[in-house]
Amino acid sequence: MRIGRRRTETDPGDGVVVELAGRSARLRDEPEVVQERERARLPLTVVGVSGGYDGVDVVHDVAFEAQPGDILAITGPSGAGKSTLLWTLMGAQGASGGRVQVGAQRIGSHADALEAGVRLMPQGNALAATLTAAENIVLPLLATGVEPAQAEARAAQSLDAVGLGDSGDHLVEELSGGQQQRAAAARLLAASADVLLADEPTSDLDAVNRARIMALLRAEARAGAVVVVTTHDPEAAAEADAEIHLDEGRMTWVRGRERAEREEGVPAQ
Ligand SMILES: Nc1ncnc2c1ncn2[C@@H]1O[C@H](COP(=O)(O)OP(=O)(O)O)[C@@H](O)[C@H]1O
Ligand SMILES: [Mg+2]
Repeated sequence: MRIGRRRTETDPGDGVVVELAGRSARLRDEPEVVQERERARLPLTVVGVSGGYDGVDVVHDVAFEAQPGDILAITGPSGAGKSTLLWTLMGAQGASGGRVQVGAQRIGSHADALEAGVRLMPQGNALAATLTAAENIVLPLLATGVEPAQAEARAAQSLDAVGLGDSGDHLVEELSGGQQQRAAAARLLAASADVLLADEPTSDLDAVNRARIMALLRAEARAGAVVVVTTHDPEAAAEADAEIHLDEGRMTWVRGRERAEREEGVPAQ
């Protein structure tokens, strides 16, 4: 690859056409959403949320509204509380104050989050190393009541979408770090969620695969999902429709939806 020149190139792996400019890449054709399904199209509303570990808050008074159709980026330095915030939104890490809602439904527990169609792609991928990539996607679908044939079909589709169509029967421990991250993204996409929380989903990826994953998340947003992405990556953040920044657990809007700030009383800073 020649650095610093714009050119179009086909990724030899699976026919994805991308435009390369320096170290950044953009998909020339927008991908289809992995799983067609009518989404709830409800906002994710976060009001005054604080939370942490062992009674000590590391996230303080976070408030925002993320709209269906949009990608919201959460940026901030390592240790700022981005992952803790996502686990709190997922109802899996106790909030010490505030409230989280999807539409009118309060999220007070992990079960509430699953019920409201919230799904998390954790940082570090959280795949079971001794299962295959496909099994890692099928099992959580079965656990949420998806029929086996449908779960297998969704796993195959989502692996294909992330460029791992031939790797479904590989054990996760046989995959590279970047392939594992794409498998984790496939698992998120296969869920066909109403609210997608992706914790640094492109941190291990090259430019082409980063563009691919961001385009797939964009397709989810276009299908009516709320998409929240934490990232260190300025290119991923730049693709988002809105951005909040966390520093030592406190947030500021970098750019946002004025409507949310005006109508919902979410503080603009
Ligand atoms: N399981 C945990 N137990 C106790 N403290 C934790 C745990 N996970 C994270 N922390 C602390 O919470 C703070 C925020 O961490 P984290 O949410 O992982 O930040 P980020 O994702 O922005 O890098 C850090 O000080 C970190 O050490
Ligand atoms: Mg983190």
